[in-house]
Amino acid sequence: MRSAHAVIPAAAALMVLVLLSALSQTEACNKALCASDVSKCLIQELCQCRPSDGNCSCCKECMLCLGSLWEECCDCVGMCNPKNYSDTPATSKSTVEELHRPIPSLFRALTEGDAPINMMVVSFPVAEELSHHESLVSFLGQREDQQQNISLPKNSIHARYDSTRGPDNLCTVVYFDDCVSIRQCKLYCESMGGSKYRWFHNACCECIGPECLDYGSKSVKCMNCMF
Ligand SMILES: *[C@@H]1O[C@H](CO)[C@@H](O)[C@H](O)[C@H]1NC(C)=O
Ligand SMILES: *[C@@H]1O[C@H](CO)[C@@H](O)[C@H](O)[C@H]1NC(C)=O
Ligand SMILES: *[C@@H]1O[C@H](CO)[C@@H](O)[C@H](O)[C@H]1NC(C)=O
Repeated sequence: MRSAHAVIPAAAALMVLVLLSALSQTEACNKALCASDVSKCLIQELCQCRPSDGNCSCCKECMLCLGSLWEECCDCVGMCNPKNYSDTPATSKSTVEELHRPIPSLFRALTEGDAPINMMVVSFPVAEELSHHESLVSFLGQREDQQQNISLPKNSIHARYDSTRGPDNLCTVVYFDDCVSIRQCKLYCESMGGSKYRWFHNACCECIGPECLDYGSKSVKCMNCMF
């Protein structure tokens, strides 16, 4: 994989950079979420046609390439109309995903006692977690390279926690101080043994612990990434 990236001709890389910087001027395109996947599809020249001009010869391939990010990112490649996000701030929108192999003991160990550097640990009653109305959240589905049985681990996790933990329990989440990409967010939360993660569209990352019943807190609390 790495060597494949290394041999991409400089011209192609430059083209992608130019395209991406052009895309970033499109107000609606969610660059923080889409940039890496969009550039992958652009490098492979899978999204070159222009449906707005009646040429949708590439639409299907482009859609397959973007996968679960299609809905969020199709406007970044000119495949769909730009979304109008101007009425809602990025901090009120988030993307959540369940992680496949949570390690509850690891997450608890990392979040107990002194707060680790560069992050903030927040605990609150799970009742509070469930009381807020979910506004603008998108759920990332499973990637195509993962198993089809997506409901099995999810159900077993819920069953286990529902039977052993009541609404008085605390939901513990971790916020990283700095802004990170959604990919980094997922990686960090996986490496902490988290059960889920929530990535706010201002690039604030929240890892969600095993006791949480829903998708953690809906408030942005990343110290260096609040807007
Ligand atoms: C549609 O777009 C593709 C990719 O840019 C191009 O190769 C093809 O010639 C176009 N077809 C038409 C009918 O314009
Ligand atoms: C986006 O929505 C806002 C408020 O709903 C509206 O004022 C604005 O004209 C819209 N912008 C576009 C490009 O549709
Ligand atoms: C997926 O589900 C099928 C039946 O629904 C089951 O037979 C199979 O073992 C499951 N695979 C995994 C990896 O859990």
